[in-house]
Amino acid sequence: MANSSNNNVKPILQQQSSIIDELDKIEKFFQQLQKPKNLYEIRDRAHRFCQQNLDRKIVLITSGGTTVPMEHNTVRFIDNFSAGTRGSASVEYFFDTNKYAVIFLYRQKSLEPFSRHFDGLLSNLKYDPTNDRIEVSEKIRPKLVQILTKMNETSNRLLKITFTTLSEYLFILRELTALLKPYESRVMLYLAAAVSDFYIPPDNMAVHKIHSNGPLRLHFEMVPKILRPLVKFWVPDAFVISFKLETEAEILLEKAREALNRYGHKLVIANELNTRKWKVILVTADESEEIEIDPNSNQLEIEQLIVANVIRRHEKFIDNHREQNSLKK
Ligand code: PMT
Repeated sequence: MANSSNNNVKPILQQQSSIIDELDKIEKFFQQLQKPKNLYEIRDRAHRFCQQNLDRKIVLITSGGTTVPMEHNTVRFIDNFSAGTRGSASVEYFFDTNKYAVIFLYRQKSLEPFSRHFDGLLSNLKYDPTNDRIEVSEKIRPKLVQILTKMNETSNRLLKITFTTLSEYLFILRELTALLKPYESRVMLYLAAAVSDFYIPPDNMAVHKIHSNGPLRLHFEMVPKILRPLVKFWVPDAFVISFKLETEAEILLEKAREALNRYGHKLVIANELNTRKWKVILVTADESEEIEIDPNSNQLEIEQLIVANVIRRHEKFIDNHREQNSLKK
């Protein structure tokens, strides 16, 4: 008798100790990183924003690449290609329904919603000093009016937060998820940022600018996959979407499925570096669905179709969550 109850308890204890180990490892990783000075100010802004949007669902969109400093007094850093197109364009399409408030966590100086349409804006403006007036060229006027109107209409539904380094990104993401956890299935995470997988631990990092008096060899450690604690502990009831980028089309699906198995979230959006602007595959545990647009279309952006699709999936997810909760009662 005593033996059989021991047998039942052992796996539970083992499971609990592996959870504690995992959380401990993540905590230790965070402890060695520098916390952003404005972390609690960001948390308070986000808290107020969520309170003002209680009648809406919330989507946290991450966007752009993280930098990895090579020196504490940073002159040099490692970066990646991400321009923030996917994230910034997606924000605008979430506003096509009145149902979402958007927290946009993006790399400083990467593309932003609305302003992304006007790269060469200054060359389309003319200043007339005699009347102290600024004139907009007729070429861009209709589009400018359209975008400014949408921007004004949605301003209370958008909160913009910036990061630059990997550690800023990770700290802010953790803080925001802690804040979003109580909103359960009404929260969607749309993790389009290109987060570095490698970093130099602060203890191994040069303090000052590395001298250029010979070849340089750097050693990077692996960044723990933050998706794991995020899905398991930080926002266990949220609808989490990760993105998967590869440069080889042949391994893309396999890698996306691997991520789903490993992290247990709902959806991976797989894209290949060179075709990402017109083709993606939405991968779940049961199926995959391709979304493709004409590469020459300058009318349609693929993010419009991606966002419409994930909104439908989120609605189903919320319904299922509600059903499961009512069954539990
Ligand atoms: O910004 P654009 O130029 O428009 O490009 C958009 C994009 C190609 C960057 C975007 O569509 C995309 O694919 N983003 C994710 C790219 C990526 O970093 O993939 P990954 O395999 O390294 O990471 C997969 C997922 O794990 C990501 O959702 C990431 O948020 C997450 N991750 C990554 C590293 C890490 N240490 N912890 C994580 O949780």
